[in-house]
Amino acid sequence: MSCKCNINKPWRYSDPAIDITRLDPYLLKYQGIKGSLISILQKAQELYGYLSPDLLMYISERTGVKPSKVFGVVTFYTQFRTKPIGKHLILLCQGTACHVNGSAGIEDAVKSYLGVGEGETTHDGLFTYNNVACLGCCSLSPVMMIGETAYGNLTKESVAVILDKIKEGEI
Ligand code: FES
Repeated sequence: MSCKCNINKPWRYSDPAIDITRLDPYLLKYQGIKGSLISILQKAQELYGYLSPDLLMYISERTGVKPSKVFGVVTFYTQFRTKPIGKHLILLCQGTACHVNGSAGIEDAVKSYLGVGEGETTHDGLFTYNNVACLGCCSLSPVMMIGETAYGNLTKESVAVILDKIKEGEI
């Protein structure tokens, strides 16, 4: 049996700048639909950038799914982020074509430029770096996406040029 003592209390999010109610239309849309937890979590991440413990507790409370299950799903799937991301999210492809064409060397170049590891955000909050599977543009391999833009045929040198330009606000 789950605790119902908070059910009628207004939700207090630990960060008052975040409007938790933006998620409510989606919670209503999926209300009572079995197997909709992942869709709700995807929408929440799209709205807030990452899934904070507060947000997961809110989702648990509103869906009736136990917190342990909500947290378990989030930690199981690599698509979900539990920390805030930087201004620019770098998705470096590690799919087969990119791997064959040198994505490991590109990864070294990205890490060395940023000074952070995979899944981390730079101290200035500008970049978050993640490895991903095939981005669907293998003819450009090795390739990375930053925001909506795919950067292909990467070399160690071109990575630095691209990141420099983004940093300077030139692209
Ligand atoms: S393997 Fe990298 S885009 Fe397909």
